Amino acid sequence: MIELRQVVKRYANGADTLTVLKGIDLRIEDGEFVSIMGPSGSGKSTLMHIMGLLDAPSSGTYVFDGQDTSALSKPQLARMRNQSIGFVFQNFHLLPRMNAVRNVELPMLYGGIGRGERRSRALELLGQVGLHERAFHWPSALSGGQKQRVAIARALANNPRLILADEPTGALDQKTGREIMELLQRLNAAGTTIAIITHDPNVAAVANRTIHIVDGVIVDEVHAP
Ligand SMILES: Nc1ncnc2c1ncn2[C@@H]1O[C@H](COP(=O)(O)OP(=O)(O)O)[C@@H](O)[C@H]1O
Ligand SMILES: [Mg+2]
Repeated sequence: MIELRQVVKRYANGADTLTVLKGIDLRIEDGEFVSIMGPSGSGKSTLMHIMGLLDAPSSGTYVFDGQDTSALSKPQLARMRNQSIGFVFQNFHLLPRMNAVRNVELPMLYGGIGRGERRSRALELLGQVGLHERAFHWPSALSGGQKQRVAIARALANNPRLILADEPTGALDQKTGREIMELLQRLNAAGTTIAIITHDPNVAAVANRTIHIVDGVIVDEVHAP
């Protein structure tokens, strides 16, 4: 599904250049569940931004779904992101002035889905994550675990092939975090490819493969037995 070849990411840092990713080679196949671990500042989120088409490599190649992404225009990238990738973040990133169901509808709005279908699919997705009766609650009235379920429902809105999750259990207690991981496992079993950044070895253990990144370099890759 995705392939990075010698991906380098640099940021200007005053007069200096900070090289955050230093030649990443990585393939993720359809249906995999991959975890990415590494110290704070090692480049995990930067890598995820590139995989999610939110940012482009400074050099190297990123192939998504058979397409060299450097050949795509901004609107083409935005469309690919909207249609094929769902995002889940540590701090949920729900819009506070929209209730749960409208948050879930948002990617469908951008995707051009009509109002009625948006609403019925959003309610169905909230049902799938166990939140049917919270559909019209504001984010501020939801617990952390419930917010993350809304975020996962939103990530699923356009039936993405890939879910990218950046420390999705990082702001949750252990039990709630386990429930979120069970939900992600269910989605993976149903065919969605998942890549998850985590600090927690228990979370990483759910994955089929764990990639360790240190200082912008993949240093190790461990396949689950
Ligand atoms: N937009 C940016 N501009 C400048 N430096 C950045 C930017 N994004 C990340 N960095 C730097 O890149 C390094 C890696 O960051 P990040 O990918 O967020 O690491 P991680 O997610 O592993 O903690 C850090 O030193 C961070 O300060
Ligand atoms: Mg990070």
